[in-house]
Amino acid sequence: MAKDVIIACDFESKEKTLEFLDKFTGRKPFVKIGMELFYAEGPSIVREIKKRGHKIFLDLKLHDIPNTVKKAMARLSGLDVDMCNLHAAGTKAMMEAAIEGLTRPDGTRPLLLAVTQLTSTDQESMERDILIHEPIDKVVMHYAKTAKDSGLDGVVCSPLEAGKVHEVCGEKFLTVTPGIRFADGDKGDQKRVMDPAAARAIGSDYIVVGRPITAAADPVAAYERCIKDFLGE
Ligand code: C5P
Repeated sequence: MAKDVIIACDFESKEKTLEFLDKFTGRKPFVKIGMELFYAEGPSIVREIKKRGHKIFLDLKLHDIPNTVKKAMARLSGLDVDMCNLHAAGTKAMMEAAIEGLTRPDGTRPLLLAVTQLTSTDQESMERDILIHEPIDKVVMHYAKTAKDSGLDGVVCSPLEAGKVHEVCGEKFLTVTPGIRFADGDKGDQKRVMDPAAARAIGSDYIVVGRPITAAADPVAAYERCIKDFLGE
């Protein structure tokens, strides 16, 4: 499985995103397009970035009734993204419907990942706000197993959980891990974080890095630092 660093392009417009991506003249980074940019620019931003030769993780975290998610996924599969996702909390029926919708007539489909618990959620907020009283690790592993049983390719999880997810769901089940910070950087609103080298050691397949790259004084240097620390290149 090809490991990679995915840059979270959380920008408000196409202009700002393309201006950012233009800085990368060598290696073409794998790009994550999230809600902010997608809602601002629509599907055309996906086509534009794809045309420039980037792989795309479309991070829209779908969560709705199975029929709606199935139909939405059918639209996303036509966009030729490499990876997309949904919330495992939407249940097995929703995840199975998503796979059905995402699969093209020729049997191919983008990778589909489940969000377990957001890395901004901790035990305290999970108990207080959504009345889940199990230990957060147990919740994440249960969601991961349900996603695997539903036919998904992996999960988005905290890097702190990546090793355990592989133990429970197997090495081939992908772990895509946001919540990455350089050891000498700012945590921001992320609570459960790890640096790129530690994420590599624990077995993350892909790290998702936003502000440590996008808000860096030299984003290309910050990206290359991630590549070096995570891929050892
Ligand atoms: O800037 P930062 O590195 O914190 O960005 C992390 C990215 O990963 C954001 O785009 C955020 O929406 C996303 N994400 C996350 N936790 C998840 C799933 C996605 O932080 N569980």
